[in-house]
Amino acid sequence: MNDLAGKHFVLGLSGGIACYKAAELCRALIKEGATVQVVMTEAAEQFITPVTMQALSGRNVYTSQWDSREPNNMPHINLSREADAILVAPCSADFMARLLHGRADELLSLMCLARPVDQVPLLLAPAMNREMWAHPATQRNMAQLTADGAAILGVGSGFQACGETGDGRMLEPPELLEDIVAFFQPKLLAGKQVLVTAGPTFEAIDPVRGITNLSSGKMGFAIARAAREAGASVTLVAGPVSLPTPRGVTRIDVKSAQQMLEATVPEAERADVFVATAAVADWRPSNSSDHKIKKDGSGNAPQLAFTENPDILATVAKSARAASGRLFCVGFAAESHDLVANAQAKRARKGVPLLVGNIGPATFGADDNALLLVDAQGTQDVPRASKLALARNLIAEIARRMRPAA
Ligand code: C5P
Repeated sequence: MNDLAGKHFVLGLSGGIACYKAAELCRALIKEGATVQVVMTEAAEQFITPVTMQALSGRNVYTSQWDSREPNNMPHINLSREADAILVAPCSADFMARLLHGRADELLSLMCLARPVDQVPLLLAPAMNREMWAHPATQRNMAQLTADGAAILGVGSGFQACGETGDGRMLEPPELLEDIVAFFQPKLLAGKQVLVTAGPTFEAIDPVRGITNLSSGKMGFAIARAAREAGASVTLVAGPVSLPTPRGVTRIDVKSAQQMLEATVPEAERADVFVATAAVADWRPSNSSDHKIKKDGSGNAPQLAFTENPDILATVAKSARAASGRLFCVGFAAESHDLVANAQAKRARKGVPLLVGNIGPATFGADDNALLLVDAQGTQDVPRASKLALARNLIAEIARRMRPAA
């Protein structure tokens, strides 16, 4: 994906060990289609050289407000006017304090102060020792900077260069990239609660065996990410898959259909949108054995009896919240043929306003897919694209249906 195509960033580095991560971040931004102008404070130059950042960004690095390379000698004006955002990564505790006071005695803080606040957002990736992070002064500064319009991207937790362990590490470049991409997505579901089920379920036969299916969970995880990008609070109830949790999403791991139902129903009580992408097993073994079933050498295979699993989507779609229109339910149908007819029938059977059809065998495990949207008005093809692009498209379709034109 080129999620940042056409975007231009000023990447500001203040002083901190995390400057080494800024090199990787610079590459990641460029790989995603952005152009990057690096600006470094004097303290940052103690940790990484402008040569490295120049080579990675393909542009001269600016380190001083007195830099005479600009014809008008005003790099703080020229460079900030071109940017779609100023991203300070790492943002040290000292640099935050400078921003808070509107200091302007070195190029990076001068540029942050001189930027047109309505047009050039300021994104901060803090990086500091855990005690510095927890200090009331830092917390107070962050609250005020947020009130002043800066977006603070959060910190990671773990082992720190000083040898201590705790909060305050700069987020890893892939995490920052995910947050930056999210920052630029339209906030179509701001303030909404979105609930997603994803992945297969696993129905135990005994402690070491079970029945499952080939669902990768990728579509559901992409929908959870797209919903969070759109400004929603997202809960993802995931069957057994090994995918990373999208940034900012609350994940509940489950195994069986019964567990998925038990995790989903209470969450649906406060959700505004429910998207059921999980490939829930239709049946489970009626009696799962507590002990491993042994081969007894007789040549006779054990006889398994099955019980039908609860239909999670149909259960939620029948709830009072869904019936009153406060919860918008979306189902998925993975079919092997007759997609339109099967998807229309499934929409009616599940009692949902929107059903998304796809050809199952063509999409299981893949990174792309093609969708068919089925609602009361008819059907609409969404052409083949990456699952994340489709997920963003679907979130826009959901948002549009939740807010019908006045
Ligand atoms: O009935 P079928 O499995 O084809 O329906 C697919 C849709 O219903 C998907 O949205 C799936 O997540 C949901 N579903 C469910 N609980 C089940 C079976 C399916 O939520 N037991």
